[in-house]
Amino acid sequence: MTDETPIQQQMESLRTEIERHNRLYYIDAAPEITDREYDRLLRELEELENQYPEFSTPTSPTRRVGGAPLDRFESVRHTVPMMSLSNTYSKEELAEFDRRIRKLIPEEIFTYILEPKIDGVAISLRYENGVLVRAVTRGDGATGDDVTANIKTINSIPLRLSDMMPPTVLEVRGEIYMDTAGFSKLNESRQEAGLEPFANPRNACAGSLKLLDPREVAKRPLDAIFYATGELDGIAFETHEQMLLSLKNYGLRITPKYWLNGKIDDVLDRLDELENMRHEFPFEMDGGVIKVNERRLYDELGFTAKSPRWAVAYKYEPEQAETTLHAISIQVGRTGVLTPVAELEPVQLAGTTVKRATLHNEDEIRRKDIKVGDRVIIEKAGEIIPAVVKVVTEKRTGTEQVFEMPNECPVCGSEVEKRAGEVALRCTNLQCPAQVKNWLTHFASRGAMDINGLGESLVEQLVDSGLVKNPAELYSLQKVEVLGLERMGDKSAENLLTGIEASKHRPFEKVLFGLGIRHIGKGAASILANEFKDIDTLMKADLAQLENIYDIGPIVAQSVVEYFLNPETRAVIEQLREAGVNFEQVDTGGSSELEGLTFVLTGTLETMTRDEAGDKIKKRGGKVSGSVSQKTSYLVAGANAGSKLEKAESLGVTILTEQQLMDLLGSDEQLEDKQTGQLGFGF
Ligand code: IVH
Repeated sequence: MTDETPIQQQMESLRTEIERHNRLYYIDAAPEITDREYDRLLRELEELENQYPEFSTPTSPTRRVGGAPLDRFESVRHTVPMMSLSNTYSKEELAEFDRRIRKLIPEEIFTYILEPKIDGVAISLRYENGVLVRAVTRGDGATGDDVTANIKTINSIPLRLSDMMPPTVLEVRGEIYMDTAGFSKLNESRQEAGLEPFANPRNACAGSLKLLDPREVAKRPLDAIFYATGELDGIAFETHEQMLLSLKNYGLRITPKYWLNGKIDDVLDRLDELENMRHEFPFEMDGGVIKVNERRLYDELGFTAKSPRWAVAYKYEPEQAETTLHAISIQVGRTGVLTPVAELEPVQLAGTTVKRATLHNEDEIRRKDIKVGDRVIIEKAGEIIPAVVKVVTEKRTGTEQVFEMPNECPVCGSEVEKRAGEVALRCTNLQCPAQVKNWLTHFASRGAMDINGLGESLVEQLVDSGLVKNPAELYSLQKVEVLGLERMGDKSAENLLTGIEASKHRPFEKVLFGLGIRHIGKGAASILANEFKDIDTLMKADLAQLENIYDIGPIVAQSVVEYFLNPETRAVIEQLREAGVNFEQVDTGGSSELEGLTFVLTGTLETMTRDEAGDKIKKRGGKVSGSVSQKTSYLVAGANAGSKLEKAESLGVTILTEQQLMDLLGSDEQLEDKQTGQLGFGF
């Protein structure tokens, strides 16, 4: 028996439960619960940790992203050097590798194991007594950078090994990589933000690991696969396969596929099979790694200066093709960024016909000296649209043309600009049809005007049909017009128009957020709404006034001023105002029936989430707290309420059921009636 308190035991069982689900999700690909249920467990643990910080542990699953940004990474010496592999490029070279080994150990019978070679960044993780203590990059093989805080943000990497009796020291080595689909998305959003895209997933991964702020790293789609060991204490493995399977048991991800073969000829066949699967893996694979499976032979085979003799890499040809670049067209993205695209002579690449390749931006065209009419090499680098790697300059005829980026937007003809710190050119016209879709989708989104039924595809249709050119025009849509759209029945047209009508009454801060002013997120919108109370006062504010507001920085201030200086946006605001959209802060503090009361919410509520219930309480002047104390007025207990309920009972705090809470709150409609009445707008 332990002398842990019931709370401690509850927290520990939550931690193991969360770790178990992590494993089911990331390692076994067989989740048992939904993301929502998982989040609920995590939140429950978080709440307990807030309440009982003395019982929180550094390996808690809530501790993946934390700590302040670093100034620099510490250098750490590898206890066992991190070697690399010698490369082979032909099957003859591999046969030679086999002959060399057989010569060194002529008496031995052994097998080979073949795994994919992952094109990422090598890492060494050190677990002491089952706890992740350090993650170090390869560096020069002898010393690397301590990137522990960054590595901890990768959800599939266990902070504790799942084993009751873990070894004293387990150093595992593997590859951090960026998931190919995630890479494409990341590059897309970098491009939209006017930033330089990464050349390939490996660069994106390396760049991510070098970030000093783990919170930024957490946003990058990184993952890891482990395939080797460093220092070991208290554990030994007979074969490589056995090692892989134990790593998997500990909760570490290993290659989804490997092959065991006694003869090199069979390995060569499997290499082809592996190459054919190239695009089925979520990571970029640049070859296969062939290793002797029997670890007892490693010492005998030994090392050359930089690589082991018992393993070798076989590199596949990169997936490239040569073709002619006929023209360069310009695409205008949803944020107005102009992207040059190569129009190619169609060519077969990795099983698909390629007609276009991205050129990213003007700098890239200059750097690679790409001209119209060039013969170019294109490559797939995890992106849906391939990239141009280089020009085949030997094949130039002298007729190739230098390409100039346009001075105006090819979609609307407005001027283009380059913002400070960006590589991209942007269209300056917010009403450019290419940008309007983005603006409308944002305007209608849940955090902004929350217009039910107005999703991306409908926005697409509204803009393409010319019905809507800015958010204000939504309010003059007629039912007959909406009915003319694809798949639009009477009922959905009705719903859409009701949704649009209802959005006129959204709080000022939501309207402000919906305007899509650059750099104004929900938080800044709310601050500005509270500070200025109405749009006219805000429009008159100057830079100094804005910068003076706590939490509003110079970038936001500048952006607000610029936005309201633009006559086009001013016109849209006027149109919105005429349509009846709310541009004033209504003092929601007006209702004060729960003033002075503090609520704690616990357990699972049936009709709403705890957040929603919290909002309703706050709207009526009440306070919501995370922990029960003498000051708690009411504890609202949902299903499976735990420690907080016990504590409330022991302190004699009044306990409410969900129904009792709802009775206390009344409906939102009742509240709104009351508020308008109070403010004198009632009938
Ligand atoms: S084994 C002692 N296995 O490729 C050598 N390496 O070019 C241990 N790599 O440094 C490495 N996939 O960063 C091994 N399945 C795999 C690999 C792999 C990728 C990387 C690793 C290594 C480099 C060698």
